[in-house]
Amino acid sequence: MANVWSSGVTFHENELQLSGMPAHKLARDFGTPTFFIDEVDFRERALAWGEALNESFGDRAGHVYYAGKAFVCVEVAKWIAECGIGLDVCTGGELAVAIAANFPASKIQVHGNNKSVAEITKAIEIGVGTIVVDSLVEISRVAEAARKHGKVQAILLRLTPGIEAHTHESIATAHEDVKFGFSIASGAAWTAVLAARSHPEIELRGFHGHIGSQILSMDAFAVSADRLIELMGKFRDEFGAQLPELDLGGGYGISYLPEDEPLLPQDVLPYLANAVKTSCATYGLDIPRISIEPGRAIVGPAMFTLYEVGTTKNVVLESGANRNYISIDGGMSDNIRPALYGAEYITVLANRTSSAPLIASRVVGKHCETGDIIIRDIQLPADIAPGDLLAVPATGAYGRSMASNYNHVPRPPVVALLHGKARVILRRETEADLLGLDV
Ligand code: LLP
Repeated sequence: MANVWSSGVTFHENELQLSGMPAHKLARDFGTPTFFIDEVDFRERALAWGEALNESFGDRAGHVYYAGKAFVCVEVAKWIAECGIGLDVCTGGELAVAIAANFPASKIQVHGNNKSVAEITKAIEIGVGTIVVDSLVEISRVAEAARKHGKVQAILLRLTPGIEAHTHESIATAHEDVKFGFSIASGAAWTAVLAARSHPEIELRGFHGHIGSQILSMDAFAVSADRLIELMGKFRDEFGAQLPELDLGGGYGISYLPEDEPLLPQDVLPYLANAVKTSCATYGLDIPRISIEPGRAIVGPAMFTLYEVGTTKNVVLESGANRNYISIDGGMSDNIRPALYGAEYITVLANRTSSAPLIASRVVGKHCETGDIIIRDIQLPADIAPGDLLAVPATGAYGRSMASNYNHVPRPPVVALLHGKARVILRRETEADLLGLDV
């Protein structure tokens, strides 16, 4: 059984504690709902991915780029810089966070399937290390912006190797019929290679592939790497020189439920190193510099959400059975993943222990939608009552970053815990913030 909590979470004195701070104090000091991030755990994971890449690839190690889309704010971007790893941004907004954090530009990699001229120009202006190009239109945009700035911009081409990773349909990104990248099978990838080479303002450094997210088995990564490396072989055969870089993307799965066995850096990187070595031997290539882009695997397990129970209601089902509906003070606006992907979570009573019998329960939000469910089916103590606190683990990735203001609910804050001290790193939105947009 995997641990779904960050390393700083303990259960003692009848309460959930983070970094020694009990849940009732966290709720009293910061309100609910709130995302609590375990800074020690976050940094340990970021460092572990960096170290595993270096250990497995030695002088062929490129960068670990933390995928900011999972969750980023200025403070977290600073932690990432301090951990010595890079940052993947995919919009002007994420780039603005990196700039505000003084993130070293050479370690920023820019993604996105529709980067505007303004976004590309900004990226080139500040000197980002790499732009991962996603369309032919973009190749011209990058060349034009680089020319205006008198620069040569390093790029990777995002390729779709035609892998259907074992994950939810809507978060698998490398089928052929997707908006991302250039398909290898159709020849689009080769057309992009030729287009990139036609611009002196562009330095084509290699290929990029990302095959999906929350992937819990490693085999798809090896197949993807092999297809990308095969094309690198074709490039070498055609042009006599080898492309120096390969980025294998992110997607490493975490434990949302105790039965989910996560993909850990100490297992993933040796596996990738072996796969890359084998493919390079097959196509007669030197091992390129390898980069990866984990997002969820760094921030996901490092956060939990703390909610307060507002109401409970017994609903009698058609079968005659009962279900306890427990309404919490957040919902689909701070965690859209169950509604959007059918994602599953667990929760625990965080402010006390209970010896009441466990009963069939459903944890629901406060939004005006039947589908506003955080946990569809779970056994929870029958005496859970208004004022109790529920903690939901592993909400760090794509929780706050995908939060909305649906029903004019202000988005929750993020509070960081380090060595027994708590501080707000992203404040709670207020009704004034929301009304501030009305003209
Ligand atoms: N690199 C690229 C090019 C990506 O598109 C993504 C995620 C990542 C890296 C990071 O993937 P990760 O290691 O975090 O799995 N909202 C969905 C996930 C969408 C992932 C989008 N791309 C969810 O909540 O499951």
